[in-house]
Amino acid sequence: MSPSLASSTSLSYSREDWQKGYESQRNELDYWIDDVEGEIPQELEGTLFRNGPGLLDINGQPIQHPFDGDGMISQVAFSKGRAYFRNRFVRTTGFVEEQKAGKILYRGVFGTQKPGGWLANAFDLTHKNIANTNIIYWGGKLLALWEGGKPYQLDPYSLETLGLDELEGILQEGNTFAAHPRIDPSCHMDGGEPCLVNFSVKPGRYTTIEIYEFNSNGDMLRRQAHSIPGFAFLHDMAISPNYCIFFQNPVRLNPLPFLLGFRAAGQCLAYNPNETTKILLIPRQTPAADRPGSGDGKVKIIDTEPCFVFHHANAWEEGDEIFIDSVCYDSFPSVEPNVDFREVNFDTVPAGQLWRFQVNPKTQETSHRVLEGRCCEFPTLHPDRVGRSYRYLYIGAAQSATGNAPLQAVLKIDLETGDRQIWSAAPRGFTGEPLFVPRPNGTSEDDGWIMLLIYDAAYHRSDVAILDARDLSLGPIARLHLKHHIPYALHGSFTPDYFGPGTKVKF
Ligand code: CO
Repeated sequence: MSPSLASSTSLSYSREDWQKGYESQRNELDYWIDDVEGEIPQELEGTLFRNGPGLLDINGQPIQHPFDGDGMISQVAFSKGRAYFRNRFVRTTGFVEEQKAGKILYRGVFGTQKPGGWLANAFDLTHKNIANTNIIYWGGKLLALWEGGKPYQLDPYSLETLGLDELEGILQEGNTFAAHPRIDPSCHMDGGEPCLVNFSVKPGRYTTIEIYEFNSNGDMLRRQAHSIPGFAFLHDMAISPNYCIFFQNPVRLNPLPFLLGFRAAGQCLAYNPNETTKILLIPRQTPAADRPGSGDGKVKIIDTEPCFVFHHANAWEEGDEIFIDSVCYDSFPSVEPNVDFREVNFDTVPAGQLWRFQVNPKTQETSHRVLEGRCCEFPTLHPDRVGRSYRYLYIGAAQSATGNAPLQAVLKIDLETGDRQIWSAAPRGFTGEPLFVPRPNGTSEDDGWIMLLIYDAAYHRSDVAILDARDLSLGPIARLHLKHHIPYALHGSFTPDYFGPGTKVKF
């Protein structure tokens, strides 16, 4: 038997199964979910929102990369042991135009930029804002997020698109709003009130990072802008009580391959393992003469091990040290040009691993260690522990302990004891980002539920799985079978507000 055959027979999945999860979902549906295995917890009240590419083609013309697919919102509203499903496309300007035309109108945009940096230009408003990366409910607004543009506001009940949202005039022409806001559960600058922290990035030879902080009414509390040297690809940020933390990956723009279009994004970003990754620490407190100890407000830039990061799990401060847990790749995980993303050879693409960084901003010393070597992505934790030391991390994971593969499992790591719990949907189930939903009046950090969308290739449909976060290994306590599939989603959130049919229940 050849080595390639040997490895393919040991896979925990079939490629055909995995590929089917990338079929477009054109239908927009509303229904009570009646096909439920197990029981939905009675105490579970609220609404799960997920965002991701709903269309992987426009009228049969395939798009080049799933990240380029039009955003589709799925909503599952839970109340009194029942659940209601609804999905709607975000009716962005580009979506409406392309659906009307019945063909791809925006494909050429990425190939006709001026040399010198399509990435620098790609993320401006002349491009198709696909609103496909995340969705949050904050300050009374439901917002679909895409890092290259302004958010789209939707009605949280009907999912009707209300239009681009400028956050009461905060976002001006050319401003963007990242897809990775963090909620500080108890901000010391605001008397312990929660606040939402988000950012925008304008990359170039110098990269401008803007930070915005909002109270729970959606009013802006703080805003600051910084310029840092060099091109920066910044998808996510971690927060601690005093810092916004970014990792500036060691990538350079290579302007030549941009003609290949968005599928070649990885080739436009040249990873250089001989450069360092730069940890950017931006003080959240803006300096003020009347506030002694408010600091100088300057960005601290600290070199560390070269790695590529999309997502951070969490960060916190202990004495003079800052700890950051992040999913790291040993190079940029790109797909070869002219290879359909569905045909990616997982063996040639780096796998994400969970690393812990320790940084001393005063001495600029850093160290790191691998917390989890299994291929993993999409970390989540108890919302009360964001920016604080924490014990339990949950993350999407591959079925196999080694090698790169699609996510089929959810892994819980006890960071105190090192214990692991894993539940896997293999061989025919594929997962994505888990979300932790605290049990009302829960008594421990893992007292709550893990919610997970699973693509089940056996039935070509998706399930919403609910697991008891205290013991993932028991498997789902409820598995809600949808009537159809949802293409692999990106990010989502849960709000205790119920947005299903019937009386509005406000918490
Ligand atoms: Co992300």
